[in-house]
Amino acid sequence: MTVHFIGAGPGAPDLLTLRGRDLIAASPVCLYAGSLIPTAILDHCPPGARIVNTAPLSLDEIIAEIAAAHDAGHDVARLHSGDVSVWSAMGEQLRRLKALSIPFTITPGVPAFAAAAATLGAELTLPELGQSLVLTRTPGRASTMPPRETLTRFAATGATLAIHLSIHNLAQVVADLVPEYGADCPVAVVWRASWPDERVVRATLGTIETAIAGSMERTALILVGPVLGAEHFAESSLYAPGYDRRFRPRDANSPFAGVSE
Ligand SMILES: C[S@@+](CC[C@H](N)C(=O)[O-])C[C@H]1O[C@@H](n2cnc3c(N)ncnc32)[C@H](O)[C@@H]1O
Repeated sequence: MTVHFIGAGPGAPDLLTLRGRDLIAASPVCLYAGSLIPTAILDHCPPGARIVNTAPLSLDEIIAEIAAAHDAGHDVARLHSGDVSVWSAMGEQLRRLKALSIPFTITPGVPAFAAAAATLGAELTLPELGQSLVLTRTPGRASTMPPRETLTRFAATGATLAIHLSIHNLAQVVADLVPEYGADCPVAVVWRASWPDERVVRATLGTIETAIAGSMERTALILVGPVLGAEHFAESSLYAPGYDRRFRPRDANSPFAGVSE
């Protein structure tokens, strides 16, 4: 018996890995975080599977479900939205499973920030404009932030920010970021990226609050940084005609000439 933690993707049922789909199909028990996972993904469960929405359950109740499946020798597909490596509460479940000697595997998924970037038709790192992406959030009712992980500190880097779980804190996000990025810095908010009803609002730090006007809540990602909507940026050296590299030696004198993988 094994518990398979599976990143179920940002919402579109076909943004699920083949491995994830096959593990769901092979597991007689499916526990899914119902607040963000579309029910269409559950169509991959085998007939007769025990399917449990864990949104209303406590950690103890979730582990009890897993322990019961373990006693019955049934594999469990444990679905979390996006990728399981961020904000999935997988860490605390893994700790319990290790204590109970219950085996597990982990299958990554498409994270919300990647789905939002696809919706925007944007690359989040561009030469010279932004080469780092910070995945972060602001404090919530259930989670405080480590004291040094503040938006103002991240802002000091000028990196692209993907701010999760924070649309309700938009005014504070703006107040924290304007001093470093400036009121003209582009912002995009993507609500329910990849869902049929996804929505995008593009504005600047100075105008985003008015543009949103409280029309989005919960499942929205706030992306901030000069890379958003930028048309004037350098091209990558990697594909420049004269750039000498192992996979494209410049000429016969290149140290890479004749070097195979
Ligand atoms: C509990 S976290 C889950 C993150 C997830 N594990 C991931 O890999 O993206 C939920 C937050 O992720 C963001 N999010 C998740 N799915 C999203 C989507 N389809 N569109 C926009 N934001 C999304 C929102 O900021 C939401 O408040």
